[in-house]
Amino acid sequence: MKRVLVIHYSQTGQLTALLDRIVAPLREAGIAVDHLPLRPATPYPFPWTRVSFFNCFPEAVGHDPVPLEPLALAPEGPYDLVVLGYTIWFLNPSIPMTSFLKHPDAARYLADRPVVTVVGARNMWVLAQEHMRRSVAALRGRLVGHVTVVDRSPNLVSVITIIRWMFRGRRDPFLIFPAAGIRAEDMEASARFGRVLARHLAAGDLGGLNAALRREGSIRIVPSLLMLEKRATFLFGKYRRYILAKADRDPASRLRRVKVFSVVLTVGVFILGPITSLTTALLSLVKRRQLRAEVERLSTY
Ligand SMILES: Cc1cc2nc3c(=O)[nH]c(=O)nc-3n(C[C@H](O)[C@H](O)[C@H](O)COP(=O)(O)O)c2cc1C
Repeated sequence: MKRVLVIHYSQTGQLTALLDRIVAPLREAGIAVDHLPLRPATPYPFPWTRVSFFNCFPEAVGHDPVPLEPLALAPEGPYDLVVLGYTIWFLNPSIPMTSFLKHPDAARYLADRPVVTVVGARNMWVLAQEHMRRSVAALRGRLVGHVTVVDRSPNLVSVITIIRWMFRGRRDPFLIFPAAGIRAEDMEASARFGRVLARHLAAGDLGGLNAALRREGSIRIVPSLLMLEKRATFLFGKYRRYILAKADRDPASRLRRVKVFSVVLTVGVFILGPITSLTTALLSLVKRRQLRAEVERLSTY
């Protein structure tokens, strides 16, 4: 009997629901699925306050680990595949997931095993996956496929709905806005990725897995969002240094600077976002081939 281990962290349960959809066809095919949910020793609050949300920015961007509750499942199970399910925090894997990747036992779960990564996020995940790809390789795991399912509303619409969701705990549609997060029909349709996984596992052929997943639409990279991610990642490094610069000598300075950053980021998203869409549209006229090659490189394993 084949065995799959799913390691993940989900705060509100959206990613858990997505992973449940994806692994359902595996179970139907007689594959055993074990779950290892990650639990930070100090849980993150939900709904968030402005300060608690933006205060985890420096650690998210710096991949600084936090303590996790003891991992509740031994790594020794004879697993044929490990699924790493993660969300994105400030363009990086969430802190609980990066904490797992730096856990002293992480290599025991991943080394010499095929790994599939699954992201459930708003819409900006590409550079986080590049970090994930390097981390899995450093832990001697073998990345064989990737699936991302996102909120497919326009960027600024999903910014507004996610702010209401994260800060008020409300996901339902309001005014002219749709429900926050991944649409119910996209959740439902994610079972197709599980069917591909089940087929490839049964055949013992994981070599062609990512190509087969991609044929089902597992990776869709939007060039304008990728450009926005690159610009924001560059600025995020600078803001992380700014927030932490005096924190040792003057701990109150951190919170003051986090508040400044919260305003800068909110304004920046509404200004930088549309400008980047426009410049990418212009750029793609002159650099179409280069952009396409980059998108292809980021989609392949
Ligand atoms: C602190 C924080 C930062 C986030 N930053 C991003 C981001 O940069 N890109 C993105 O696509 N989603 C971002 N999100 C949304 C999450 O990736 C995720 O979709 C949402 O938190 C729900 O996931 P969960 O309830 O399954 O944990 C962020 C969420 C939080 C809490």
